[in-house]
Amino acid sequence: MTGLAHAGTYVRDVAASRARIRENVLDWEHLPALHASSFAACELVDSDADGWRVRLTAAGGGDAQTLKLFIAPDTSHYRVVTEAGPGATSEIRVAVTETAPHACHVRVEYHVPVNDPEVLAMIGKGFVAIYERLWDEDEAMMQAREAALAPRPRAPDRVDLGPEAALALPLDFDLGSGRFRLIRHQTTLLAHSRICPHWLGPLDAPPDGDGCLTCPWHGYRFDAATGRSADGRALRLAPAPAISIENGHIIACG
Ligand code: FES
Ligand SMILES: [Fe+2]
Repeated sequence: MTGLAHAGTYVRDVAASRARIRENVLDWEHLPALHASSFAACELVDSDADGWRVRLTAAGGGDAQTLKLFIAPDTSHYRVVTEAGPGATSEIRVAVTETAPHACHVRVEYHVPVNDPEVLAMIGKGFVAIYERLWDEDEAMMQAREAALAPRPRAPDRVDLGPEAALALPLDFDLGSGRFRLIRHQTTLLAHSRICPHWLGPLDAPPDGDGCLTCPWHGYRFDAATGRSADGRALRLAPAPAISIENGHIIACG
């Protein structure tokens, strides 16, 4: 078998800027975290001006693929070539057209080393279903990141969170330049930053059995009580405010 045949095309209008799409495409690290239902692991082999080369393992296991990204400097197009592993030589070719300041049209084609028209049609159908899910997940992340990057007015440095008797948890609040969440953790009230210090991802899920918060975008982990990295990274959460009870009201103070 030589050459590639066109198996399928996925087209979509994405409510995100070309800058966000470029950032997302270059961000290999989000693949097994944001797309955990599709990918189990991803390790960087190398990177250059064209993009990255990674070893990617599917969620179902099996042999890893070696993938190489080639992205145009203006992000008008990119392609991902499977250099080794399952589906070797296949290519995903993507055209990105900016249609508004925060909107793009994307056209994603899948080319594979297969001749049989029936097999091609089956591969194309599966490809479209997978890419619809991946772009759903990517679009949500890109929109949340755009919102997180937008300037916000500074909040007060002291906030009354209401009567203790009426407390409903978890409770989100802004204080100073930070965004926090009040939870009950091991019988005590605990406030923690709800913004990941890596790329501003949402730390909205409750702590796990080890008392750690896991960011859904790249999987970084933080100790909810101390804010320290739980996976050896040189990052920590924004300092949590002091929580006190004054005249029956819960007060957060930065
Ligand atoms: S934004 Fe990357 S791990 Fe949180
Ligand atoms: Fe993605």
